[in-house]
Amino acid sequence: MKTYLVTGGAGFIGSNYIHYMFRKYGDAIRIINVDALTYAGNPENLADLEENPNYTFVKADICDAEAIRKIFAENEIDRVVHFAAESHVDRSIKDPAVFVKTNVLGTLNMLNGAKEAWELPDGSFKEGKKFLHVSTDEVYGSLSEDGGYFYETTPYDPHSPYSASKASSDFLVKAYMDTYRFPANITNCSNNYGPYQFPEKLIPLIINNALQGKTLPVYGDGKNVRDWLFVEDHCKGIDMVQEKGKLFETYNIGGHNEKQNIEIVKIIIDTLREMLPEEDPRREHLTYDLIHYVTDRKGHDRRYAIAPDKIKAEVGWYPETKFEDGIKKTIAWYFDHQDWMEHVTSGAYQSYYADMYEGR
Ligand code: NAD
Ligand code: TYD
Repeated sequence: MKTYLVTGGAGFIGSNYIHYMFRKYGDAIRIINVDALTYAGNPENLADLEENPNYTFVKADICDAEAIRKIFAENEIDRVVHFAAESHVDRSIKDPAVFVKTNVLGTLNMLNGAKEAWELPDGSFKEGKKFLHVSTDEVYGSLSEDGGYFYETTPYDPHSPYSASKASSDFLVKAYMDTYRFPANITNCSNNYGPYQFPEKLIPLIINNALQGKTLPVYGDGKNVRDWLFVEDHCKGIDMVQEKGKLFETYNIGGHNEKQNIEIVKIIIDTLREMLPEEDPRREHLTYDLIHYVTDRKGHDRRYAIAPDKIKAEVGWYPETKFEDGIKKTIAWYFDHQDWMEHVTSGAYQSYYADMYEGR
């Protein structure tokens, strides 16, 4: 039985990954989830696993060397899947320091914890151990509107404090692979969407505001492009890279689903109108009149687009979920989980929203 140490498993992608892995492997695996439960971490995302004897939750900060050492000392960890991070660009523009702490120093601490546990006296590593560092395509910078893609060979050119901190963490993982032959992979994925995403990110924020008849804030001219991937496809890609990828390699995950932000917002309005029953009073407000162009994000990257050629050729992964289906599933999930949305938007979220959007 393999034991996985997942960091940041109470967040958006981490919780989807843990669900995906238990669906796929059942009780053939054990998962230990270490998460500090910041504003982005929500134990409710994993409430269905509380009784699962193969699942353990540890509340700890990935920067806490003692706490991480203890997990490795008490468990024979086979795989690390490292999601924990500060992940929102707008927050990084307001307060970069915590991004450097968690994303850079936290990653260094995770690398040290795994290295100490897995390294043999001759400097080689125990057979079969693997560390996967989950990163973003934002490390590659911004593409022009009229062409080009991010490849694994594209030079790093991060612009936001978030992407700079992720780039820095990627370089640390690369340094451990090059210096110690530390058994790792890096994945750089495009924008994810799906269930359990915190409503500070575009898609859940727009769904939530639209359902409440609130204005829909679109930054700048709304023509920035992101390459959207359904979260379950990302989770599948991570697992496939760990099982079928070549050690020490980087794989880009994403592909060929580019949309302008304004298109996304209009698709959400149209889909919600289709889904709401005729008599639902919220339909009345659900028009494009809700769209509100606001001051642009500072340093806003224009376009991201992944070329997934390498992961397709070497690992056999491809993006399975069509956007039309994925967005319907996502909206249906938020529709059915309005209590989840109420819980995460009470309290601190209100002041976050006011600070970020009021008078913008
Ligand atoms: P998220 O913000 O939803 O979740 C982050 C999780 O990490 C939360 O559960 C939080 O409590 C935890 N965490 C934060 N700081 C911590 C600390 N110091 N110690 C322990 N736990 C801590 O993020 P997400 O969207 O699920 O992203 C997960 C990973 O995937 C990140 O590394 C991110 O850079 C990467 N990524 C995200 C996307 C995307 O579109 N969301 C795309 C590509 C890559
Ligand atoms: P986001 O979901 O924050 O992801 P990222 O910045 O990591 O790509 O934003 C996606 C795009 O949507 C980005 O171009 C910024 C834009 N955006 C808005 O126009 N309005 C919003 O309220 C938010 C949160 C994002």
